[in-house]
Amino acid sequence: MKQATLHQLKVFEAVARHNSFTRAAEELFLTQPTVSMQVKQLTKAVGMPLFDQVGKRLYLTQAGEELVKTCRELFDKLDQFEMTIADLKGLKQGRLRLGVITTAKYFVPRLLGPFCKRYPGIDVSLQVTNHEHILNRLNENLDDLYVMSQLPESMEVTYKLVLENPLVVLAPANHPLAQEKNIPLERIASEPFIMREPGSGTRKAVQALFDEHKLSLKVQLDLGSNEAIKQAIAGGLGLSILSLHTVALEVPNSQLTVLDVQHFPIERYWYAIYPNGKQLSIVARTFLDYLLIEGKQLAEQTAKRKMADPVSSSKNTTPSAEDFEDREHPADRPPAN
Ligand code: PGA
Repeated sequence: MKQATLHQLKVFEAVARHNSFTRAAEELFLTQPTVSMQVKQLTKAVGMPLFDQVGKRLYLTQAGEELVKTCRELFDKLDQFEMTIADLKGLKQGRLRLGVITTAKYFVPRLLGPFCKRYPGIDVSLQVTNHEHILNRLNENLDDLYVMSQLPESMEVTYKLVLENPLVVLAPANHPLAQEKNIPLERIASEPFIMREPGSGTRKAVQALFDEHKLSLKVQLDLGSNEAIKQAIAGGLGLSILSLHTVALEVPNSQLTVLDVQHFPIERYWYAIYPNGKQLSIVARTFLDYLLIEGKQLAEQTAKRKMADPVSSSKNTTPSAEDFEDREHPADRPPAN
């Protein structure tokens, strides 16, 4: 193992992450034969096969799995070291890897602009994907920090409440239900419905509410994107339930409207999460502090807007100050939805 180089480990980790020599070569701007050669040399240095190839698919061997874990720990440590040195020089510098669920893309990227201006030495990589994929990334320790609405059940995490993320029923603005108040859930169940894809946290929360009331939805189609669902609603394909933030930036004469339905909004919150025991890098800590302050400010602005416009606020879901405290123990968890 002494002959292995850092470069070989980086190449190997990329192949393991993509499960593909070709994609790793693309990511690293190398040719595929170079990637294969590096992995071959590393395999020789380890003295055991790192991958099994069955047909066209690559599988990590047990030795490969162990080496991926070691690589990630090593790269994390090296990143931390670089950031410590930068910090000693009085600079906030380094790489910030964020993994956020789809609804968080309506606020995290907007906060990143001012953050990157304030800390020009920080490079940010942002992965936006659904709940299930974020859980996979969390399990594989691929990012520094995650933003999600539902806490993982199979892993102990430290989490901090960032902002409310209510789910609401959306309809085309000219829908007959748009003028009605206190619409029963049964009425929504009888309408054609557009559902998020399996693996989505939104879908899970919607399903849980309707299961609780022993109702089934008339799902016309599954779509893997909030934006596509909004288009489908506007096109008259049905109703849907999405985060209020997906329409928060729409102009007042939008083609969509929020229906006044019993049991809505479904109260949810965005949490910033990282695995218990993970030592946050200086850069990740800096972003987390920033996120919590900005999140609070956004929550305060929302609360003010609600007081000015009580008609559109069906419930006061604004969190109180102590909701923003650190939570580290599973017993502190809010109920899963
Ligand atoms: P989703 O998550 O993109 O997986 O639906 C959104 C959310 O949980 O708020």
